[in-house]
Amino acid sequence: MEVDEASWLHLEPRTGETLRGALERTLREAILSGALREGVKLPPSRALAREFGVSRGVVTDAYEQLEAQGFLVTRPRAATLVAPIARRDADRHQQEPPAATPRYDFTPTTPDVSLFPLSHWLGAVQHVARHVPRATLGYGEPQGERALREALADHLGRTRGVIADPEQLLIVQGTAQGVDLILRVLLTRGASRFAVEDPSHTAQHHRIRALGFELLPQPVDDHGLVLSGLDADADAVLVTPAHQFPAGCVLSGERRRELLAWSRKSDGLIIEDDYDSEFRYDREPVRTLQGLAPENVVHIGTVSKTLVPALRLGWLVVPPSLIEEARRAKGLIDDFSPALDQLTLAEFLRRGHYDRHVRRARKVYRARRDRLIATLETWLPELSIEGVAAGVHLLLRLPDGVDDGAIAEAARRARIAVSPLSSFLLTPAASGGLVIGYGSLQESAIEEATRALAQVIRTQI
Ligand SMILES: Cc1ncc(COP(=O)(O)O)c(C=O)c1O
Repeated sequence: MEVDEASWLHLEPRTGETLRGALERTLREAILSGALREGVKLPPSRALAREFGVSRGVVTDAYEQLEAQGFLVTRPRAATLVAPIARRDADRHQQEPPAATPRYDFTPTTPDVSLFPLSHWLGAVQHVARHVPRATLGYGEPQGERALREALADHLGRTRGVIADPEQLLIVQGTAQGVDLILRVLLTRGASRFAVEDPSHTAQHHRIRALGFELLPQPVDDHGLVLSGLDADADAVLVTPAHQFPAGCVLSGERRRELLAWSRKSDGLIIEDDYDSEFRYDREPVRTLQGLAPENVVHIGTVSKTLVPALRLGWLVVPPSLIEEARRAKGLIDDFSPALDQLTLAEFLRRGHYDRHVRRARKVYRARRDRLIATLETWLPELSIEGVAAGVHLLLRLPDGVDDGAIAEAARRARIAVSPLSSFLLTPAASGGLVIGYGSLQESAIEEATRALAQVIRTQI
């Protein structure tokens, strides 16, 4: 800590207090409040004395006193430090120790972050840092860097059949911000009723409710979202057509047609969450809904599954009638997404690393999926497995009446992380299941992990 950094500390002796006493109290209060944290170096006594206009002896006395009380550590010929035990009070309020890390992690939302080609990403970072125009280091465009919007428009058209003009693309910080942004746009248009698939991603339920929308759960069957009963008054519906989260089914052709007809008739907006469609194994990728009806659909994509969630990079493809409002909403939320990261992704795409990584990761995940299915079929042959065609998770159906929450809890006690289907449901269902992710498990560990999970399930059904 330099003296000028300590200039916010004011020495104001109280009535009857000596200068040394006032300095000691001031420093102690700063330490206890957490402003001066463990390990922070205090200014040399001579410099602090000059700053406060007191003699050096006042500061050395105060330091010694605080050291005797355990607040500071003084060392010969080295700076005085705030002691580790200094924040005794704060420590008392600390949270419980973190839960034991699972032995086997079947969490469905996480990809294998160790597959991320970090050296290629770093190459793109370096390229961007060397060549970035100075103007790009200032305040950027809310809609996102043009270079990335162009690279994505090409990529999405080529791989997903998205009809994407760079003018309709908007860069966001993951699907999370994309959904939040569209909700805000709808809110300013007076919308209040928002349909979701039931089951679906719990974080989206919270997001939708947090902005005051009424949540309308729509059931899901083997063909995806069930439309009958979808309220004509719903303002929008959020769907995962390529791989329903978490049930894993694909929205059938007939249901797609019904959904688009609903949108055209009721003027309801379809929000297409295309989060893991690049990982499709047993058949050709299904084209996006946006590609069929660009006026009715907001398409949302993310790198959270294909690369890593930590990048917080996602995109919206927005109908022309909504793009200006979406751009304004993004500006209100956070001005714009970090420009250097956007340019890095553009360069990463341009160099072909994205496509190569997806091809490689798809093979890895496919092998893990096959191993998981084979092991489940061996150890739990009577249970049906669903939603295996894409992504990094599948659904293991449990017999009617079996409490999937109790099984997940028993697994947790055995240090196995797995999600019960019921945790994603808005309406309780007769049949439960386990949503089993294979993104984070190495292929060599899958058999052992699955056997351990199967043993837990056996004891409960
Ligand atoms: C249904 C669904 N959509 C999107 C995402 C990705 O969200 P984000 O892009 O905010 O990381 C996930 C991640 O688990 C998901 O399960």
